[in-house]
Amino acid sequence: MRLRGDESRVDPLIRKNPFPFYRALREQQPVYYDPKLDVYLVSRYEDVETVLRDPVTFSLEHGYQDRYANGFVDELADIMNREGGGFVRDIIACDPPAHTRLRKLLDKAFTAHRVKTLEPRIRQIVVDLIEPIAGRGHADGMKDIGAPLTARVICEQLGFDFDEVGTERIARWTTALLAQIGRMQTHDEMLANAREMCELQNYIIPIIRARESEPREDMISDLVHARLDDEQNPTLSFAEKVSCVRAMLIAGNDTTAAAIANLLLVLATQPDLARRLHESADDDRFLTRFVEELLRLEPPSHGLFRTTTREVQLGGTRLPAFAQVCILFASANDDESQFPCSRQFDVTRGNVGKHLTFGAGIHRCIGAALAKMEIKVAAQEIIKRLDDIRLAIPLEEIAYLPTVATQTVMRLPLTFSRRA
Ligand code: HEM
Repeated sequence: MRLRGDESRVDPLIRKNPFPFYRALREQQPVYYDPKLDVYLVSRYEDVETVLRDPVTFSLEHGYQDRYANGFVDELADIMNREGGGFVRDIIACDPPAHTRLRKLLDKAFTAHRVKTLEPRIRQIVVDLIEPIAGRGHADGMKDIGAPLTARVICEQLGFDFDEVGTERIARWTTALLAQIGRMQTHDEMLANAREMCELQNYIIPIIRARESEPREDMISDLVHARLDDEQNPTLSFAEKVSCVRAMLIAGNDTTAAAIANLLLVLATQPDLARRLHESADDDRFLTRFVEELLRLEPPSHGLFRTTTREVQLGGTRLPAFAQVCILFASANDDESQFPCSRQFDVTRGNVGKHLTFGAGIHRCIGAALAKMEIKVAAQEIIKRLDDIRLAIPLEEIAYLPTVATQTVMRLPLTFSRRA
């Protein structure tokens, strides 16, 4: 593909399959001004790492907050203040020093112990979900597997009652929140999304209040009571609690559901790989490498934003102060200088875990260990039960959510048989 300079990440054909575009960017214009998004796309591994490791020059707070709600932030705030218990920013999306304190508080809730204790429960959730589907012969990989599985796990982890919340509501809430950072939201969509965000907050606020007075064995209780003895503000304010619970619910949901759908898509389109996964389903080392390579090849987060706080040289391009930058995680993972034959699924790569799917530096994903464990357990239990997984529609007909931030399939019709 030869770049003319008017191509955009949001062009319909590029959205469907962005990888040829990413390659052209890396080879021809590694820091490229996208005219429709009004951002610089950063495509090479090395430059993406530079941006992630310098949170002062490349501010997440500005990149994320300045264009929050795609120009409708005041109106969104009015609606939320009137009907949703208050307008609360995504507080974790901030720069140091505020981020340092918040992240330490969040880490208190996200302990290895909490993740470990979830494993047997996650396995049970996967089995309960796949068993009834296995005999049916067909399912939607997102609607019937990825979305309900992740929604159940997230409810389990946070301490929500899944039967009360349900997959569908979590999916709607997630889409509404993601739309605020996706740069494609229209005014009508903002109004519809605002209703969803109000519903979400009206649901979580009473639960947070309840855990304040009566803690339970769950992550919301850990978060609500988290304390840092060496800080001036040692506990989370109420607004911070709402924002963090909301962030946990949403950040871990769409991304992990997309990863499970990608797992199914890979199994459906690469039968040899499905066979190898089945043969090695009890080999922990193989499974770990399989999950890392899946995350490298098909990362759920394709592009997130930063703003420059000063003039800076990046990848041979001079960026002015206050320039908007989009970090293309998916392109960095596809960079041949790091990952030879990058579009090939190769579990034997020497640097299989070196991908940037969970980011890097101070904002590196707090849920990475949980997400990897969830995908691993899902891969293991799915491949033990489903055989001959096939895509029921042509590959070109797969549609993705309208957002630059993630590459999430909307529907994934599959056929399969129950493994004998
Ligand atoms: C496959 C699944 C997941 C992927 C691909 C993913 C991806 C990411 C990425 C790329 C970042 C860095 C954002 C940036 O630098 O701008 C991030 C941050 C974050 N993720 Fe995840 N994530 C996943 C699962 C989860 C889960 C399960 C949770 C929690 C339940 C979670 C919670 C968060 C939070 C709270 C942050 C912000 C951290 C900070 O700014 O300090 N994520 N995630």
